[in-house]
Amino acid sequence: LPTTTLDFNNIQGDILGGLPKRTETFFLFEIINATKFRKDLNKLIPLVKTVAGVLKDRKDIEDHRKKRLPGLLRLTGVNISFSHLGFIKLGIDDSSLRPPVDPHAGVLDPFELGQKIDAVINLGDPTKHNGDPDWDESFLRGHIHGVIVITGDSHASVNKKKSEIEVIFGAHTPNASLKEITSIRGDVRPGDQAAHEHFGFLDGISNPAVIGFDTVINPGPRPVNPGVLVTGHPGDPFEIGRADWAKDGSFLAFRYLFQKAPEFNTFLKKHPISEDGNGKVLTPEEGSELLGARMFGRWKSGAPIDITPFKDDPILAADSKRNNNFAFEGERSSQFKCPFAAHIRKTNPRDDLEVPPTGTGSVEANRIMRRGIQFGPELTTHEKAMGITEHGRGVLFACYQSSLVNGFQLQQQTWSNNPKFPPFTGKPNELPGLDPIIGQGSRSMSGLDPLNPEAQLALPNFVVPRGGEYFFAPSLHGLKGTIAA
Ligand code: HEM
Repeated sequence: LPTTTLDFNNIQGDILGGLPKRTETFFLFEIINATKFRKDLNKLIPLVKTVAGVLKDRKDIEDHRKKRLPGLLRLTGVNISFSHLGFIKLGIDDSSLRPPVDPHAGVLDPFELGQKIDAVINLGDPTKHNGDPDWDESFLRGHIHGVIVITGDSHASVNKKKSEIEVIFGAHTPNASLKEITSIRGDVRPGDQAAHEHFGFLDGISNPAVIGFDTVINPGPRPVNPGVLVTGHPGDPFEIGRADWAKDGSFLAFRYLFQKAPEFNTFLKKHPISEDGNGKVLTPEEGSELLGARMFGRWKSGAPIDITPFKDDPILAADSKRNNNFAFEGERSSQFKCPFAAHIRKTNPRDDLEVPPTGTGSVEANRIMRRGIQFGPELTTHEKAMGITEHGRGVLFACYQSSLVNGFQLQQQTWSNNPKFPPFTGKPNELPGLDPIIGQGSRSMSGLDPLNPEAQLALPNFVVPRGGEYFFAPSLHGLKGTIAA
């Protein structure tokens, strides 16, 4: 592997390492006194966990486990990011965050646009009659200047850290430099559903391995150049020309996504697949399980259907040497094993794009580092019985990349919402359709029934976007030398 030097003491920890967490609060704030905020920020900086800090945490967690000490190690992590409006409010020139010469001539940069506008013109979020996205009020007022991400082992630890941060900025006092817009808390789900999202599928299996950071590279997609995620390194499309303070940072796309889990379960029950690809007749339960697996591209266990298309394999799912080692290879004309539009094929099409003749070369530039967490309660008995959502739940989706245009925005707009993606050479009727989980627009897809892949199934909306924003997570050097004063 080529070598590259990443300064682990300069890069915020969530980007490459991932802040360890059972629970996480996204503290969205408005800056009300810029001069004072820049002074106060000096006191927050020592709390900001870097990549080096995360690596130390990992070691401490491992020691704690080896010593068989009871409970979870008490840990918290703090990271901070700013929106374009935040930089304006602070009087900081953030022009080197956008491309020096716009290669997408005429297309506005999503970071500058802000997600509220991007959601309507590019992401396909449903809108209200006044043209705004149909979001929670807190995200519509246009005052989100930044987010402080606070992770920890428990609500008590995170609440304590949050209070400490509020004191630093004088929040709730006449001398406040920031105002809380809203704080959204996410929690890892309980028991055997830990690491599973609310539809029941194991998440967080496939994130890019990063050259210069990861020491263990499991079989699967090629490791990416660090600049795909971290600005100012090889792989950053604007590697040259970023201001010094804008290097070693990353763009954070945050999305407040609600999941209609009872409705999703009812849908699976109503449309069981009758026979698997080998012609074996399935029970209704088996048929519903297979339908769900074909919508995601993985079984609930996490086992990829490209390797084990018709039978779950929990042992494979748990084996990090095998559970990501597939590429939809040679399957551009076939959705026998995995539908073209399955969530993981839409968002990481692997050989659908990697290999000539029709491949564009590489998906490396389009990869993102996902760092989300679940929010909301477990399903109640009443919700299960009625098949209707009564309590808000979903994912606080968060991902990092050096280019929002190449990463999150493209995955949502150009891939998930586009019925013709991935490029396929199957029959014309096998138009892939939309990503059944996150696709926005006229929702249907083909390929769910392995023996009748041309059948298009209409899909209700199971994921409802209710807010979000784009942020930039600067380096420690940038925070100290440019943003704080
Ligand atoms: C993978 C769930 C939203 C991008 C996955 C996986 C699950 C999942 C279960 C498989 C586990 C894994 O491969 O790590 C969900 C749910 C969502 C959601 C329930 C919304 C409520 C999104 C969004 C994006 C996205 C908004 C980006 C626009 C990805 C990517 C992968 C993935 C890139 C990994 C694909 C791969 O490398 O094979 N998601 N996801 N997801 N998701 Fe999502």
